[in-house]
Amino acid sequence: MRVGLLTSGGDCQALNVTMRGLAKTLYRNVEDVEIIGFLHGYKGLMYGDYQKMKPKDFSGIINVGGTILGTSRCPFKKMRVIEDGFDKVAAMKKTYQDLKLDCLVVLGGNGSIKSANLLSEEGLNVIALPKTIDNDTWGTDYTFGYQSAINIATNYLDQIHTTAASHNRVFIIEVMGHKVGHICLSAGIASGADVILLPEIPYDIKKVSKAIKQREKDGKKFSIIACAEGAISKEDARLTKKEYKAIVQARNGRSVAYEVAEELAQYIDSEIRVSCIGHAQRGGQPCPYDRQISTRFGIEGARLVMANDYGKLVVLKNNEISAIPLNESAGKLKFVDPNGPEVTDAKLLGISFGN
Ligand code: F6P
Repeated sequence: MRVGLLTSGGDCQALNVTMRGLAKTLYRNVEDVEIIGFLHGYKGLMYGDYQKMKPKDFSGIINVGGTILGTSRCPFKKMRVIEDGFDKVAAMKKTYQDLKLDCLVVLGGNGSIKSANLLSEEGLNVIALPKTIDNDTWGTDYTFGYQSAINIATNYLDQIHTTAASHNRVFIIEVMGHKVGHICLSAGIASGADVILLPEIPYDIKKVSKAIKQREKDGKKFSIIACAEGAISKEDARLTKKEYKAIVQARNGRSVAYEVAEELAQYIDSEIRVSCIGHAQRGGQPCPYDRQISTRFGIEGARLVMANDYGKLVVLKNNEISAIPLNESAGKLKFVDPNGPEVTDAKLLGISFGN
């Protein structure tokens, strides 16, 4: 049996541990299995850039972040676009056929799952495993990497907390999450943030300043604002996609946290500082939860391969690992529910969402 394997899109801490779970299960339970690792995501499949893996390649990597195969972003919207005469889909199919693969296992987030679904619809035997620190894949309660990212963001927020308190400053800490705010919400709650700004809950800067002034009245001279990368003001949320894109471009690479700082400075007297965590949230070792759940994701992927059960995405639902058809998840995002229990509870506790 020949199994193709690739990691695609932004990396995370738990890619290696997931591949290890898959590979070890296959090597142990399937006679004559060969794993072909494609380098740098779908590009490796397109250009026939691969490596014949050996069992020892998957040893000693349970606690190693990044990906032994490398990764890259290959936007789904460009998959069917022929560029310089190069037909990406045809090229991927050709590599798959030339290598006589029985199936392809893709570790990836939402864009990569859409591409996996495309290849499945093109007749390839594909299985996907849900990777992304953002935890925004539809159909699964958990995507591997998420808990490791929360840990890093929480530690970072904790560290800012002490310096903010010493200096009586208001800190705006930017957390990853362009379209969804799961990491920001979880790390914000876990670190005792006073204000949490999410893409799903457009903010009114006056409400944000009100929350900070209230803290001052209560004798608390510093405040922590956990701000997702994709946080958006109520005014901007009313714009068309095109108009908003123009606003983001005009920021010239400056992220939203700086925008919030500037707006807030018009309403409060405290010193304001901005701190962005950035890609550290995707780096370093997978946390213990990610190691165990990702191992199980990998084992389930192997189980599907062994059962020739293709066109599936491995998911975690109500603490049970199973699989759903790829096309059920592809193209949908799992957002923070602005009226859901997490947000409602946080509000009861006094956290402001600026709305
Ligand atoms: O999808 C994971 C993620 O880390 C997002 O949280 C973030 O918005 C994005 O990737 C950053 O992408 P890049 O690595 O291309 O800068």
